[in-house]
Amino acid sequence: MAESILNGRRVLLIVGGGIAAYKCLELIRRLKERGASVRAILTEAAQQFVTPLSVSSLTGDKVYTDLFSLTDEAEMGHIELSRDADLLVVAPATADLMAKMANGLANDLASTALLATDKKVLIAPAMNVRMWTQPATQRNFETLMADGVGFVGPNEGDMACGEYGPGRMAEPAEILAAIESHFNELAYPGGGPLKGKRVLVTSGPTHEPIDPVRYLANRSSGKQGYAIAQAVARLGAETILVSGPTNLPNPPGVTVKRVETAREMLAACESALPADIAICAAAVADWRVASDAEQKLKKTPGEQAPALTLVENPDILATLSQMKEKRPSLVVGFAAETEKVVEHATSKRQRKGCDWIVANDVSPATGVMGGDLNTVHLITREGQEDWPLLPKQAVAERLARRIAEHFSNARAAE
Ligand code: CTP
Repeated sequence: MAESILNGRRVLLIVGGGIAAYKCLELIRRLKERGASVRAILTEAAQQFVTPLSVSSLTGDKVYTDLFSLTDEAEMGHIELSRDADLLVVAPATADLMAKMANGLANDLASTALLATDKKVLIAPAMNVRMWTQPATQRNFETLMADGVGFVGPNEGDMACGEYGPGRMAEPAEILAAIESHFNELAYPGGGPLKGKRVLVTSGPTHEPIDPVRYLANRSSGKQGYAIAQAVARLGAETILVSGPTNLPNPPGVTVKRVETAREMLAACESALPADIAICAAAVADWRVASDAEQKLKKTPGEQAPALTLVENPDILATLSQMKEKRPSLVVGFAAETEKVVEHATSKRQRKGCDWIVANDVSPATGVMGGDLNTVHLITREGQEDWPLLPKQAVAERLARRIAEHFSNARAAE
């Protein structure tokens, strides 16, 4: 089972000269993490913002900078450089690079590689707001769109030059998502294997108020649930993510409903039904304060600390699993355990009534809570599958494919 749609893909990254060039380092790191190979071309101006040495340390390859380098031409001609890639990404794409592309100019290695390619080109513009809104740039933008060039961003926001407006380069995570969705469309031209399925995902912690300024919470980052929502959406599912408070951006192609408390999360899930599949990855607080104070609790020196009375929160996974009419046909829960992981997870699956449980070890030594890696066991009615230590992203992709497989097996058995 392939772990990532990017595994084995070859990306030629062209870095233009802008302050956002530093973000290309993060992009390279994320692409490599997912198994892609990256070759990089730096324009002359780009080398003022990011050094070839940093780029080359991350790509694990030499960096290409010079159109007339005899050594480079002998090792890999500039035509092969673009032919050898599955996708060309320009990040940051400066106004100058866009102008060259729109007019077919080829006077340095970057513009020559862009003109010589027959592959898809995806660009992430980055420039001052006035440069972006300039009619000349807007004309180039229209021309490039009509030529089939893909765009990600630019975003609106504060700019390094102190102005505000459109022109900021998209974040590495957004560029990565655009790259993934390109390869996804190539892999599933008619829509993915979950096309036609509606998936509800819960994610993140919940915040249970104590008073207007304090709350009970837990250490969940929401990363795993967000990655799952993105992975099922990429396989073509209509995806609704009900999220507790997190700092994560909305995953592309996913409808996100943000909530605070467990009770709000349950209400949002119920209103998102019917769904074919529910995946409860949220770390829902088990308890809330019986009656949260309307005003901030005050501390009086010498007096005893207030006692908090807790009451149990609704169990969202159990509620969805035990529904009579609207029960999703596949309900998947998570079991975060610190000991006897499989044993506890197996009994949790039975107790809550869900179909599958993804069990993970969250004991402090594993660094799973808030971290990027996860070791999971998938517990189904049929038994147990042990998955290797994987990035949360890869766990999400594997789970999404496993769900798709489950439905295609069910269809085949009909
Ligand atoms: N869950 C839920 N609503 C709750 C509590 C948990 O939907 N109020 C879901 C979680 O999203 C997860 C599963 O139940 O899919 C198990 O969560 P976990 O915290 O491991 O289990 P608990 O039920 O809290 O049991 P315990 O804390 O005793 O291990």
